[in-house]
Amino acid sequence: MIPLTGYSDRLSAAPGERIAFKISSAAAGPYHARLARVIHADPNPAGPGLKIEDLAHRFTIERPSRVQPLAQGSYVCVDPATALRTPGPLTVAALVWPTLAPRREQCVVSRWDDTVHAGWALSLAPGGVTARVGTSGGGPLTVATDRALALRQWHRIWLVADPATGALRVGHAPLTGGGREEASAPLPPAVRLDAPAPLLIGARLTPDAREHYNGKIEDPVLLAAAASAPETLVLDPLLPPTDLIAGWDFSRGIDGLDVADVGPHRLGGRLVNLPTRAVTGARWTGREMCWRHAPREYAAIHFHDDDVYDAGWATDFEFTVPDDLPSGAYLMRLSAEGHADDLPFYVRPPRGRPRADVLFIASTYTYQAYANHARGSTDAAYRERVAAWGAYPHNPDDHPDYGRSTYNRHRDGSGICYSSRLRPVLTFRPRYLTFLDARGSGLRHFSADTHLLDWLEVHRIPYDVVTDEDVDGEGAALLAPYATVLTGSHPEYHTARTLDAHAGYLDGGGKLVYLGGNGFYWRIATSAAVPGVIEVRRAEGGIRTWDAQTGEYHHALDGAYGGLWRRNGRPPQRIGAVGFSAQGLFEGSYYRRGPGADDPRAAWILDGVKDTVIGDFGLSGGGAAGFELDRADPALGTPAGAIVVASSEGHGPSFIVVPEELLSHVATVTGEKPARLLRADMTYAELPGGGAVFAVGSITFCGSLSHNRYDNNVSRILRNVLDRFRARR
Ligand SMILES: [Fe+2]
Repeated sequence: MIPLTGYSDRLSAAPGERIAFKISSAAAGPYHARLARVIHADPNPAGPGLKIEDLAHRFTIERPSRVQPLAQGSYVCVDPATALRTPGPLTVAALVWPTLAPRREQCVVSRWDDTVHAGWALSLAPGGVTARVGTSGGGPLTVATDRALALRQWHRIWLVADPATGALRVGHAPLTGGGREEASAPLPPAVRLDAPAPLLIGARLTPDAREHYNGKIEDPVLLAAAASAPETLVLDPLLPPTDLIAGWDFSRGIDGLDVADVGPHRLGGRLVNLPTRAVTGARWTGREMCWRHAPREYAAIHFHDDDVYDAGWATDFEFTVPDDLPSGAYLMRLSAEGHADDLPFYVRPPRGRPRADVLFIASTYTYQAYANHARGSTDAAYRERVAAWGAYPHNPDDHPDYGRSTYNRHRDGSGICYSSRLRPVLTFRPRYLTFLDARGSGLRHFSADTHLLDWLEVHRIPYDVVTDEDVDGEGAALLAPYATVLTGSHPEYHTARTLDAHAGYLDGGGKLVYLGGNGFYWRIATSAAVPGVIEVRRAEGGIRTWDAQTGEYHHALDGAYGGLWRRNGRPPQRIGAVGFSAQGLFEGSYYRRGPGADDPRAAWILDGVKDTVIGDFGLSGGGAAGFELDRADPALGTPAGAIVVASSEGHGPSFIVVPEELLSHVATVTGEKPARLLRADMTYAELPGGGAVFAVGSITFCGSLSHNRYDNNVSRILRNVLDRFRARR
């Protein structure tokens, strides 16, 4: 764990609203927190340098230190209830689809009290399936089979404690085919099956051990009887009600955190640390691809020992945004005994009262998708630069403690499809270097987007800030008052509501300045029932770091078909005029002025720019056109009459056409040669309702704004666009 860190309950607040901060500090003495405003979070000495305005006179506080732990690993918790008493006889059974070979016990179902060594647990162990029961006096009794379960196949497993015959049995059988295994041991007279503890599905937790299960579980059942053929137990049709204590049907309430018991006592449970629902179950036939159409085929939950949701830390202090605090990016700066951390958040304008005609939308959904992205790239050279520049010293490679990103995989190899912001996020920090950038700073996301905020400050252009989450909640009405709306470098992740807000703003005559690349790309889901979380299913195609499994393309949180917005009928070009076309290493090249620059409708964009080569400089990869490139394509929704004023070229050998544009190794969807699609199109589109879009189609564009003391052709172009969009209101 990092000695001093934390998070807040929300990422933005308007004047009069409160943000609660949750801090973990290992310092002996108190820690301090003070307010600061972020202008420029890039520590590269070749650029303008850090600009962080201390506002301790507006807010400072001292609090006693305390360590707040974060426990990873998901499970279902069923509270102890009288009806849950299991004095025996007892049968516990479940369907399992294990995904990680156990090196120690991975518990599937347990009810265990470690203080009195009472209860029972049914687990996977390195050699097979193991049952544990408590006894009064001595230690627990265990019995295990000696055949390991094949991974990624369905099995039934069971534990049967039968005081009548004096036997404890444990066994497993593949769901299809032969291979039943069972082991037994004498059940001691002093057995203590009942424990005053919660029942856990997917874990056994003791002060000394966290035995989390990795894989899918389906239909766990609990019987007050000793089943003679437990491999035949099923929830559907229901078991004889006289025997059934509880049976949990995970196909109910897939979009929430509650787990339903279909037994007589309704012993429902609650998910902890957000395991994955809406996954194919033991009965999945392939006839349906959406869980809503065949829920019983999706009656499984996939648990992981590294799942993380809400860290659940207690609030240390709250900050109420003062009425006169300008909208912008802020930090709560923590310090204690040589340790420090910065927790970013945004101050919105007062509700219903914009204070500027320019709005910047902070791409917080994208920041969240990348939250704690471990890249395995923090080598010696990276660390040297971090030290030399005084960059943010922590990174997710070193600290898996806080869970990883939707770009990573779980330990069992399955893709991480949820990301919570209710935990420390090390990549969401000023001075955080994503890449060891040979020609620039290597910033992305929160820090990279301060290249734009700094430019606005230097040009004395007043701006308000809201976040993706704000736009999701309030829609086009939030954007409507603004003469122009600016994106950051990478507005990649969107809900249907954030796309609707952008589209509605444009339909109403709004002017969108899309200053990034690979924007409006992945569909995400959110849910009021699971606050603080986004879900992404990396379905079908696209540039991906993992692939959603067949049958699991629909979100759990809202049931919608996940994956690319392009595959959902809303290609990026429809909002941003351009869409993802090529990707390479974090290297920047340049644009070349095209004939469109002389079109009378667009000539004002390059007013004062005599150069034919644009942006061959910059703090992001060394050039304004780089890393991820978008191009105009009327077939995908680039508005009619759009003008490409410049296109990029000179990209290195690492650049490839994105998979969704390729039909074969030589053929593309458009019919052009693949090499033709390796470009960013700087594009201007006028819309029928009076709206307009200016798009740069490159992630690295904003890194070039400060070059030559902000006097350069990239800066001039953005200035021309903002002057025009603000004046034509
Ligand atoms: Fe991305």
